[in-house]
Amino acid sequence: MKNIVILISGGGSNMAAIVRTAEREHWEQRLGARVAAVVSNRVDAKGLEFAKAQGIATQVLDHKAFPSREAFDQALGDAISRYDTPEQPALVVLAGFMRILTPAFVERFAGRLTNIHPSLLPAFTGLHTHQRAIDAGCKFAGVTVHLVTAELDHGPILDQAVVPVLPDDTADTLAARVLTQEHLIYPRAIARLLAV
Ligand code: GAR
Repeated sequence: MKNIVILISGGGSNMAAIVRTAEREHWEQRLGARVAAVVSNRVDAKGLEFAKAQGIATQVLDHKAFPSREAFDQALGDAISRYDTPEQPALVVLAGFMRILTPAFVERFAGRLTNIHPSLLPAFTGLHTHQRAIDAGCKFAGVTVHLVTAELDHGPILDQAVVPVLPDDTADTLAARVLTQEHLIYPRAIARLLAV
């Protein structure tokens, strides 16, 4: 069995979409994979409640309790590695995990670390992607799922989805339109990775 460890910081709607898709599409039987754990760097991350209600193991690692970014990433990596099995290393899925990761962490999970970013990368890396797309006069916006490399919001693109930017959009209305696409493409990209 391949374990999937999902990292969140907040609402966890992408995590929930992945958990629901795994259930609906019988990933355990079809792909030999299951969502084994949800780890948050924030104790108040709302997604933790959903994960617990699904019977998924949860863990909180508060980054503020660590003396350095390196120390936090070491502990986070160790928490994840508990879900490696003798046959298979765990797949690590960043789903609204709002932390910049150290090169050592990225190297440790290279090739099995995915992220979702709410823009059409390589445009609009970083924060406030929707407002920046509106301010730039973009007619289209979207979302990208990619493998994580050391450079922030870069790395091989696994999937993208495009949505229109409407004339009266605010960052919130555009974000909501993008989010519905996130919930479709992230589970799909993970299922494809697992099927390789
Ligand atoms: C999502 O829109 C995700 O793309 C974004 O945070 C939101 C998390 O929502 N991620 C980033 O901005 C990463 N740079 P969720 O907690 O409901 O899945």
